Amino acid sequence: MLNRISFIGGGVMAEAMVQGLLSRKLVSPSSIIVSEPRRERREELKAKYQVLVTDRNVKVAVTSQVVVLCVKPQDVQNVLAELKGHLKAGQLIISIVAGTRLTTISEGVGHGAVVRVMPNTPAQCGEGMSVWTATKAVTKTQFESSKAILGAFGKELFMQDEKFLDMATAVSGTGPTYVFLVMEAMIDAAVHLGFPRHIAYELVTETIRGSIVYAIKSGKHPAELRNLVTSPGGTSAAALYQLEKGGLRTVISKAILAAYERSRSLGEQGATVHGKETRT
Ligand SMILES: NC(=O)c1ccc[n+]([C@@H]2O[C@H](COP(=O)([O-])OP(=O)(O)OC[C@H]3O[C@@H](n4cnc5c(N)ncnc54)[C@H](OP(=O)(O)O)[C@@H]3O)[C@@H](O)[C@H]2O)c1
Repeated sequence: MLNRISFIGGGVMAEAMVQGLLSRKLVSPSSIIVSEPRRERREELKAKYQVLVTDRNVKVAVTSQVVVLCVKPQDVQNVLAELKGHLKAGQLIISIVAGTRLTTISEGVGHGAVVRVMPNTPAQCGEGMSVWTATKAVTKTQFESSKAILGAFGKELFMQDEKFLDMATAVSGTGPTYVFLVMEAMIDAAVHLGFPRHIAYELVTETIRGSIVYAIKSGKHPAELRNLVTSPGGTSAAALYQLEKGGLRTVISKAILAAYERSRSLGEQGATVHGKETRT
């Protein structure tokens, strides 16, 4: 069990992590401290989870074994500069900040042991998928702690090479957005046919949920499952013809590539900003 874990930024993802850690009893509420600038949000987190709250980033960082950076990419440089020189050997930084590279964090804060994670929003209900990597300075114990922390709100997958983080950003990090858009399109189409909206919602969500559970349990490739239900001249064949004609596969492939390129360019911008800051 961790003595103390702190979160810098008390937003959506920090809350998902706090919830996961508490529900798995990995830490007690009094071992969690969240640093958050907005008073109403601090009070909300304190009332909901009985965790400690503050608005002083440095104060929480220096007293914690693990410091989790949960701010938006545009705020991370300020936080790194604020923390610089305050962390000691034995402490671990875990960053969930999208696109911000290990070197940007490590050099920005002047600390070697850093873990970079790409989680996703289903973490909010304990069904997240987190892909992570670590600097060489991360010890075996810190590695195991990171695994346990990230496993508290879903599945976690360690990748040795940081290049996979930008790829994961495009596939699993941004992935829920693609799924929600498909859900929305199917619901609207069902309404267009004549279903009341609440029934359309249930039909679509249960179909997607059931298909995912079935695919995982069967262990079969999606193409095989699809072929099993595509009878000659049937409804699936008619629908698939239109999906292929509309370029569904190409559009999905282009979307994932665009998200990947955007993640890489955000990482490059962060590295450049950091480079400028250290020179001044
Ligand atoms: N949401 C996702 O699906 C997702 C997935 C993967 C990765 N991420 C990454 O996770 C990070 C957090 O995302 P989120 O969705 O949790 O964002 P969020 O809800 O906006 O949370 C960010 C929090 O940081 C606080 N903050 C701003 N400046 C700060 C500072 N200087 N010191 C301390 N706290 C500060 C904000 O305070 P205010 O209340 O004043 O705004 C806010 O509560 C982002 O970098 C994002 O890229 C998110």
